[in-house]
Amino acid sequence: MADSDPAIVVEGLRKSYRDKQALTGLDLTVPQGTVHAVLGPNGAGKTTCVRILATLLRHDGGRAEVAGYDVLRDPDQVRYRIGLLGQHAAVDEELSGRQNLEMFGRLYRLGGRRAAARADELLERFGLADTGTKAVGRYSGGMRRRLDLAASLIMRPRILFLDEPTTGLDPRGRTEVWNAVRSLVDGGTTVLLTTQYLEEADQLADRVCVIDGGRAVADGTADELKARLGGDRIEVVLRDAGQLSAAASVVGMAARGGEVETDPDRRRLGARVTDRITALTETVRALAAAGIEAEDIVLRRPTLDEVFLHLTGERAETAEEETPV
Ligand SMILES: Nc1ncnc2c1ncn2[C@@H]1O[C@H](COP(=O)(O)OP(=O)(O)OP(=O)(O)O)[C@@H](O)[C@H]1O
Ligand SMILES: [Mg+2]
Repeated sequence: MADSDPAIVVEGLRKSYRDKQALTGLDLTVPQGTVHAVLGPNGAGKTTCVRILATLLRHDGGRAEVAGYDVLRDPDQVRYRIGLLGQHAAVDEELSGRQNLEMFGRLYRLGGRRAAARADELLERFGLADTGTKAVGRYSGGMRRRLDLAASLIMRPRILFLDEPTTGLDPRGRTEVWNAVRSLVDGGTTVLLTTQYLEEADQLADRVCVIDGGRAVADGTADELKARLGGDRIEVVLRDAGQLSAAASVVGMAARGGEVETDPDRRRLGARVTDRITALTETVRALAAAGIEAEDIVLRRPTLDEVFLHLTGERAETAEEETPV
């Protein structure tokens, strides 16, 4: 596989469980050495997608290639090159972290001495060296997930699938796992991670694919997705609520006639703008010229949460309307 070939290619992927359509024509391309987030609500089809790519589940239509190999035709070649961290942990609670990793190493036929060496290396790398002898049942959530991650890396995969790596973790555990994932990517590993957390996609991923109802509803960098919501917002807080309507006409001009939302109780008004710096400069000048005093003027990008709700919420509403009663 050439460096420029994508690590993962998915085209029109379909999968049904009896009468339930889990994937309805999913498209996805992941370049080598990048982190791609598949972001979607419960039941969107994330785990189904990951299991197909990891050769654990057969699809009914479309095409999926991993590391240049078709997952149905060459599953062994695919397996040889991937690591998988499943949505639910695969480690044994009674065993220590070190014992778990050694066991996985032996399963992969590493041989006792190499399995032990690899276990030590991975415990060290994920900050688990001190706890290597403690039973996993007594680990914190973050430690457990880092051990899962270590287990998925025993064979040094070039492509790693992480299915909701931080769901259920507290903020500290989440940060620990994020740092562990970041350290992997520095080593050139391609990562496909699924998540329900927009912040996770924003923090870790080069690109984000938003899926809903088993297909992609948007794909791009976090910034591109944010831009799809209509770019930035300008928000102004006034000293005097009495100047709200005068200020609204100023902001309306900067927004080129776009809708201005006002909130008299908080002396606040805001509008979407296309050219952020021009809009800011014009607003500051025009407010001063009109003698309107502002307490605060900010430019704000929409959050990924707003984008996500916009993309998935809108589709969900459409789907409801289409459902016959
Ligand atoms: N083994 C199965 N049999 C029947 N239906 C299934 C099966 N596995 C998944 N589904 C259904 O397929 C759809 C997609 O499920 P999937 O597990 O891929 O979603 P997900 O995005 O991973 O959700 P979550 O965020 O809850 O993990 C859901 O409607 C789910 O109920
Ligand atoms: Mg899932």
